[in-house]
Amino acid sequence: TGAFTYDPGFTSTASCESSITYIDGDEGTLLYRGFPIEQLAEHGDFLETCYLLLYGELPTAAQKADFDYRVTRHTMVHEQMQRFFMGFRRDAHPMAIMVGSVGAMSAFYHDSTDISDAQQRMIASMRMIAKIPTLAAMAFKYSIGQPFVYPKNELDYASNFLRMCFAVPCEEYQVNPILSRALDRIFILHADHEQNASTSTVRLAGSSGANPFACIAAGVACLWGPAHGGANEAALKMLEEIGTPDRIPEFVARAKDKNDPFRLMGFGHRVYKNYDPRAKIMQKTTHEVLSELGIKDDPLLEVAMELEQIALRDEYFVEKKLYPNIDFYSGITLKAMGFPTTMFTVLFAVARTVGWIAQWKEMIEDPSQRIGRPRQLYVGEPKRDYTPIAQRG
Ligand code: CMC
Repeated sequence: TGAFTYDPGFTSTASCESSITYIDGDEGTLLYRGFPIEQLAEHGDFLETCYLLLYGELPTAAQKADFDYRVTRHTMVHEQMQRFFMGFRRDAHPMAIMVGSVGAMSAFYHDSTDISDAQQRMIASMRMIAKIPTLAAMAFKYSIGQPFVYPKNELDYASNFLRMCFAVPCEEYQVNPILSRALDRIFILHADHEQNASTSTVRLAGSSGANPFACIAAGVACLWGPAHGGANEAALKMLEEIGTPDRIPEFVARAKDKNDPFRLMGFGHRVYKNYDPRAKIMQKTTHEVLSELGIKDDPLLEVAMELEQIALRDEYFVEKKLYPNIDFYSGITLKAMGFPTTMFTVLFAVARTVGWIAQWKEMIEDPSQRIGRPRQLYVGEPKRDYTPIAQRG
């Protein structure tokens, strides 16, 4: 059947060389351009992380100011995009709106799609990083029937996003700095994760020379699935379904049952066979947000912490090296901030956009990259002759 390596799910195939993100799954280490995620999340901000992922180095103060300016001047979306939004049903899932509206950017920004021109590639990149929060907030506002809120460039990235989501024209809105810092950190944690499914999708789409906005829309579509970015929504629904700690053993038993398709959402990872370092930071952020909002004894947090403890001691999870991943705690935090579950994966997409772009750019600039074209092991019928329909039995 041919001399191909059969590797379903690409568990042992490196599709590219990359110098952006490093993961040591056994150690539970994550580095962006060599910098530990813990340090970036503690001391950095999201736009600085964007700069780092795109250019490979941390910016100087002047470079950072210039970068912030270059991103923020693109935050508005074409006014006609509003009419595009009106075409969606009100009850459409915001991720469905994102797939459509990010793809539609390819129809609005023709002037930055010559991928052979480094300058145009950069403008397209800035546009995507700047506009994706605006589109995400519009998807949210549209779903709850509130007017769109235009971006405010004097605010930082996360504060601007919170304002676009939660401000209404009839009253003043003050961004809570603790919440905006927490959201900024959530964005940093999600910014890149080497060749995960959505990033590989962006690279594959981009390898044909496709329009960059369309490539990112492909990434958004792939992210939506519950095994990937959709896990944060699924994890929160699961915690709500469990409801109280006394029901945890029942769900743990189901997760272990081979005949039950149920899995503990927010648990397990293809690469991490140790605690996901992002989950640790996420857990800390959850506590900070709940305390800032005065939420004491959150039943979901109680269920999550107890579930984590039970699973970490359970032989099945220990043997299979299943630990909480980033999505386990993010939902509780986002819910406390006021986001409905349907927005969770949208927020992931906002943050991951820079990773997708950095990886897309690296691929375009790598002369060894060719169109992505996996082979297959054919297991169908051998050659046979056509039978006219009247003679088929
Ligand atoms: N609950 C119960 N059993 C599990 C779980 C889980 N969450 N995850 C994996 N397993 C078992 C699985 O049944 C399999 O058992 P066996 O070897 O007996 O068949 C074994 O562990 C290996 O699992 P796998 O599905 O072959 O591993 P994978 O690398 O293909 O999948 C995963 C990784 C993340 C899709 C999977 O762990 C999973 O479905 N987790 C729940 C969804 C989730 O939390 N996804 C978010 C991932 S992190 C953020 C992101 O990538 O977007």
